[in-house]
Amino acid sequence: MRINKNYGNIEETYLFSEVAERVRQFMAKDPGACLIKMGIGDVTRPLCQTAVKAMVAAAEEMGTEKGFHGYGPEQGYGFLRDEIADYYQRTSGVKLFSDEIFVSDGAKSDIGNILDIFDVDNVVAVTDPVYPVYVDTNVMAGRKVIKLSATADNGFLPMPYPGLQADIIYLCSPNNPTGAAYDKERLTKWVEYANAHGSVILFDAAYEAFISDPDVPRTIYAIEGARSCAIEFCSLSKTAGFTGTRCGYTVVPSGLIRDGVQLRKMWLRRQTTKFNGVAYPVQRAAAACLHEQGIAEIMENISYYKENAKIIADTFTELKWPFTGGKNSPYIWVQCPHGMKSWPFFDDLLSRANVICTPGAGFGDCGEGYVRFTSFNSRENTEEAMKRIREIYGQE
Ligand code: MLT
Repeated sequence: MRINKNYGNIEETYLFSEVAERVRQFMAKDPGACLIKMGIGDVTRPLCQTAVKAMVAAAEEMGTEKGFHGYGPEQGYGFLRDEIADYYQRTSGVKLFSDEIFVSDGAKSDIGNILDIFDVDNVVAVTDPVYPVYVDTNVMAGRKVIKLSATADNGFLPMPYPGLQADIIYLCSPNNPTGAAYDKERLTKWVEYANAHGSVILFDAAYEAFISDPDVPRTIYAIEGARSCAIEFCSLSKTAGFTGTRCGYTVVPSGLIRDGVQLRKMWLRRQTTKFNGVAYPVQRAAAACLHEQGIAEIMENISYYKENAKIIADTFTELKWPFTGGKNSPYIWVQCPHGMKSWPFFDDLLSRANVICTPGAGFGDCGEGYVRFTSFNSRENTEEAMKRIREIYGQE
């Protein structure tokens, strides 16, 4: 028996587990500390009432002879896939076919699982800083990963350059962790690159509902040519507060063909073999969220988080700390004060302000010297955290 030695090439602990461990150690020393969590991007607003009602009704239906559901379709129920297709049409004017949509338990799982359909010899390009899942899942499989620097000089939005050789390209827009978002013109350049090189873009749209800039596409399929080169991942986690409820979806367009094979068919084959679908009540709740009344309710929560993001951004503007994000995104990516490095500033903020952020260095080399704040907290906590930060660092 031999184990997968590639696991030796990744960090021993996942970034957010490391953050949680440091916080645990701090709490052990100072159990009375009143911590405010602005680290992991986990939502705090409750599920909207429309979702709750749909979930309860579906659970009751499951308790009846007539309404009981056993195994559902691996690809997701038709009612939810149709609702997702409608959502794309309404929000972006994009036409998707129901059989191109695959419902799952979240974008993170699909982003890792999709690699099953690609050869290990493909070269992978990621932006740096990067959501660690893109890198770790590929390194676990033994794939070569190249990094495209996202810095203040390129507005944290790396572009294809002459000589770039990448088979699989991960783009996340609005970006986790920087909050920067590709506009149409920049995204078009990536689509042109992928079509010209036969590459596949894995587009993470998990934060699309936070976009307010009309020039920033909410889906890569708003770009001409994307249907022949891109797979899109999205999730109700951040859109509708489903981080604990688990529901996401992946779009694999029929026109996406590599090596003469439709990737949609390969993904269907993979999912039908390894996945048994998402719980029926959860899919009913997800469909309700994407329908009229549900949309109105979930957008209220998103506006709430966006207002928090503005409070954070205004604080950093006042302190003259250079930052990006917060406008089309729940994340604010800020340079640490006094030239501090990410982990020392994380510790400083934790011990002096009792505020938890995420150290930028955990997202890649280009993240060193930065930290990420999330707006997924209550108004009260966000205001209190910013007050503490202004009082402590505003005097220095
Ligand atoms: C984050 O904090 O980056 C997110 O919560 C990660 C995720 O969605 O898995």
